[in-house]
Amino acid sequence: MYKILKAEKLNEIVYLMEVEAPMVAKHCEPGQFIIVKLDDAGERIPLTICDYDREAGTVTIVFQPIGASTEKFTKLQAGDAFEDFVGPLGCPSEFVHEDIEELKKEKILFVAGGVGTAPVYPQVKWLHEHGIEADVIVGAKDKRFDYSGKRNGSCSRQFIYYHRRWFLRTQRYGYKGYRRPGSRREEIYTLCCYRTYDYDEFCCLTTKKYEIPTIVSMNPIMVDGTGMCGACRVIVGGEVKFACVDGPEFDGHLIDWDLAMKRQQMYKTEEGRALLKEREGDTHHGGCGNCGGDE
Ligand code: FES
Repeated sequence: MYKILKAEKLNEIVYLMEVEAPMVAKHCEPGQFIIVKLDDAGERIPLTICDYDREAGTVTIVFQPIGASTEKFTKLQAGDAFEDFVGPLGCPSEFVHEDIEELKKEKILFVAGGVGTAPVYPQVKWLHEHGIEADVIVGAKDKRFDYSGKRNGSCSRQFIYYHRRWFLRTQRYGYKGYRRPGSRREEIYTLCCYRTYDYDEFCCLTTKKYEIPTIVSMNPIMVDGTGMCGACRVIVGGEVKFACVDGPEFDGHLIDWDLAMKRQQMYKTEEGRALLKEREGDTHHGGCGNCGGDE
């Protein structure tokens, strides 16, 4: 069992938990995720790691209830426990394997919105610990929805845009100006939840125009998290990839966004899953029996 040490409601729809998981905390790197299951009957829910403390053996997760299982998570208190907490899963962010001195020469910018702002923290923290500067742009509905502002701000320059309605009214908060002399970004990371793939796509369309390399952390529906069920299939550069084992980070300029968005919608219904199974065969679903797609 994996004990919950802290359970906090960040605002009316977003929750944070600190979970005792020493092995995950010891091995995880920025960009990776875990799959958590409440009990025997519970669904397997993938969540990006939002922080980790190797010494304390804890991992922090942030979630928004969007189904029966995550709704149950909202009732959990410190002292309760998850039956399964599997990870770290997926590949670490690319920069973890890059030469530190080369990285220091780069200008890295993170762009995030919604619950996607929370997983930025392990990335900027890692960069900061290695002496690398990074900037973060966060889009939030208002101050209540800025989940990780203080934490991200502690190790990066952060620019927060509050908006009551996307793109209609924005209020800049924090630093006054964004562009500094010679501040052309050389690498952009975007992190988002699946409901805002359109936002990631627009970001990639813009950066493509200026030839700025852009990495996107995809968050598709996942079932087994081991590359077998096919639920998280994405097409990148014309090739089939599985976000759980090949990602979740991919070159944003090579992602087939139309297909990614369509697939998310189709996976929600039995009929849609049946159609995907017909089109994609075994790589759609390997018969894990978890999501009902085989029935
Ligand atoms: Fe990735 Fe099943 S969740 S293949």
